[in-house]
Amino acid sequence: MRIVVLVSGTGSNLQAVLDAVRDGRLDVEIAAVGSDRPGTQGVRRAADAGYPTFVVPFRDYPVRADWNRDLTEKVASYDPDLVLSSGFMRIVDESFIARFDGRYLNTHPALLPSFPGAHGVRDALAYGVKVTGCTVHWADAGVDTGPILAQAAVEVLDGDTEETLHERIKVQERRLLIETLDRISRGGIPKL
Ligand code: GAR
Repeated sequence: MRIVVLVSGTGSNLQAVLDAVRDGRLDVEIAAVGSDRPGTQGVRRAADAGYPTFVVPFRDYPVRADWNRDLTEKVASYDPDLVLSSGFMRIVDESFIARFDGRYLNTHPALLPSFPGAHGVRDALAYGVKVTGCTVHWADAGVDTGPILAQAAVEVLDGDTEETLHERIKVQERRLLIETLDRISRGGIPKL
């Protein structure tokens, strides 16, 4: 299974995928890693590991549809079986999803459909929930919407900050992401 991974920032979940592939725990081929902004740590991690990388800079496009078209073409040029949004903080449109046959996987640091968006951990803390977690799902063109494949719960502890809670969530998120990619690569999960 060839995958293209999209990142916008740190790429710690991407790193977990890179490590799992390197160690033979996950049988996928990483075709490329791309970003919507230049200079991300995620892209650097991929380059350091020897994978092709690309950037389609969102801010350089006055018209969103043009960015979406160029991103779609760039990703398609690597002929992926699946596209993974691993901390990719941009919404793509229906034509992107359709081009990859619905095989656009996203991971989110909350128990969807609660707390979608760019600040899932902060929003859950602010609401005062006692349990939150993470979700891996087939993404559609909405904000963290689409059929849920796997979830894990994480308890909110007294004194948690956004950072401490997000770190504990990410431990579960990485496990869930690799397990789900593994199941998909073995044909265990039907597509969207
Ligand atoms: C992850 O927790 C991911 O779920 C989240 O961004 C973080 C990226 O961390 N994505 C979203 O919030 C999507 N709505 P990373 O760059 O260190 O992997």
